[in-house]
Amino acid sequence: MTASSLTLAAYLIAALLFVVSLAGLSRHETARAGVGFGIAGMAIALVTVVVTAVAGASALGVVLLVVAVVVGGAIGLWRARVVEMTGMPELIALMHSFVGLAAVLVGWNGYLEPGALDPSLEGIHHGEVVVGVFIGAVTFTGSIIAYLKLSAKIKSAPLTLPGKNVLNLGALVAFVVLTVFFVLSPSLWLLVAVTVLALLLGLHLVASIGGGDMPVVVSMLNSYSGWAAAASGFLLSNDLLIITGALVGSSGAYLSYVMCKAMNRSFISVIAGGFGAPSASGGAEVTGEHREIDAASVAEALAGASSVVITPGYGMAVAQAQYPVAELTRKLRESGVEVRFGVHPVAGRLPGHMNVLLAEAQVPYDIVLEMDEINDDLASTDVVLVIGANDTVNPAASEDPTSPIAGMPVLRVWEAGQVIVFKRSMAAGYAGVQNPLFFRENTSMLFGDAKDRVEDIVAALKTAAPAR
Ligand code: TAP
Repeated sequence: MTASSLTLAAYLIAALLFVVSLAGLSRHETARAGVGFGIAGMAIALVTVVVTAVAGASALGVVLLVVAVVVGGAIGLWRARVVEMTGMPELIALMHSFVGLAAVLVGWNGYLEPGALDPSLEGIHHGEVVVGVFIGAVTFTGSIIAYLKLSAKIKSAPLTLPGKNVLNLGALVAFVVLTVFFVLSPSLWLLVAVTVLALLLGLHLVASIGGGDMPVVVSMLNSYSGWAAAASGFLLSNDLLIITGALVGSSGAYLSYVMCKAMNRSFISVIAGGFGAPSASGGAEVTGEHREIDAASVAEALAGASSVVITPGYGMAVAQAQYPVAELTRKLRESGVEVRFGVHPVAGRLPGHMNVLLAEAQVPYDIVLEMDEINDDLASTDVVLVIGANDTVNPAASEDPTSPIAGMPVLRVWEAGQVIVFKRSMAAGYAGVQNPLFFRENTSMLFGDAKDRVEDIVAALKTAAPAR
């Protein structure tokens, strides 16, 4: 077997492991194994690339490679260890910017050092260069803006330049024209023009998108970074990079689509730089009196209930309340109460945020249901505990057509017998929209840090007499 066929075989195995990994990641029960397959695939890919590179490299090249891997690996390990779950989206955004930058550099290298090219393939090569540089540069600046917005280093409000859609469309048309010229006559200034154009387009595209759509943007940039990697794969003639890039590109695009559906946002409008984005103002004025409740009374209500649904949200993550929530769940189940969780697709701040926290606290998977699985059962539920969720349980989304979140599918918690809302104040949620749920007849507010309040309830449960 020759070295190149060994390399190909290793790439094929790695690619298969990536596919199996993605399949595993799509279900709670198999997610851990999915991560394992992904790590194995990446290890095989890395070893193969390093061995292949070292075989044909100079001593300086080998030293540079080792230094890059050690420095990059150390920074990656350090960031992954210290990052809070709530800081994940911005870390991911920053990482996408590196993929974008790498694609730009690979593209430029492909232009400056094309190597021996078959004259009949020159046009294709230059097409690959310009497409790789374009996608990479859009991903690079777009991801940096997403990082700055998510980490609140710049304002998350959308930038609204006059004629912003015309600007975006104009940039795309200019890209197509420049690409044609570059393929016909590859000159340096054309590549500089494409790079600058793409850097500006990425900046403008993401700056035009408001904070509410940022989760979709991050997953869209994930998709772009995949396509950028695939473009680099064509330039480097690396089949594994092409396959991996395509997997990341298509799964990122699909995730963005699913998230847009969950937030009732138009996919096209989001990727086109916030075209037609709703404003955070508007919606009917919400007035009324809210009722407060204390932990002991909640414990009593829970002890007397036969079915309880918990809908967690961003506040549960902030308070790190998942551990006492898991303990409360265990206690209630032991005393014969049916407890289930209703998880909204965009609860928290990143896809699967709540599922990860609940899994971490060892809540059994089979009682953690998705919004669509639990919504029809809420009307027959005795008590719903809304723990740090707000926008995802806002009735205005389905009842007030003038609300900025009108049409967003939500958990219909207000249909339950009794609703307890855990939060620290009457403040609005992420979308900045008032929530009429708090003033409903069957809603009571339990104020304070969610972790403290759930612990209070667990303590009170020990003394609460079941009303059944
Ligand atoms: P949010 O609407 O963000 O509301 C969270 C609530 O938690 C707040 O009203 C806050 O009220 C409360 N809270 C914060 N810290 C708390 C603590 N320590 N103890 C108790 N309560 C606390 O939550 P949600 O229902 O999960 O909705 C998510 C929102 O984020 C949606 O608008 C979604 O579109 C958006 N978003 C989602 C994602 C993804 S992919 N999941 C990413 C980015 C944005 P107080 O301040 O009064 O305590």
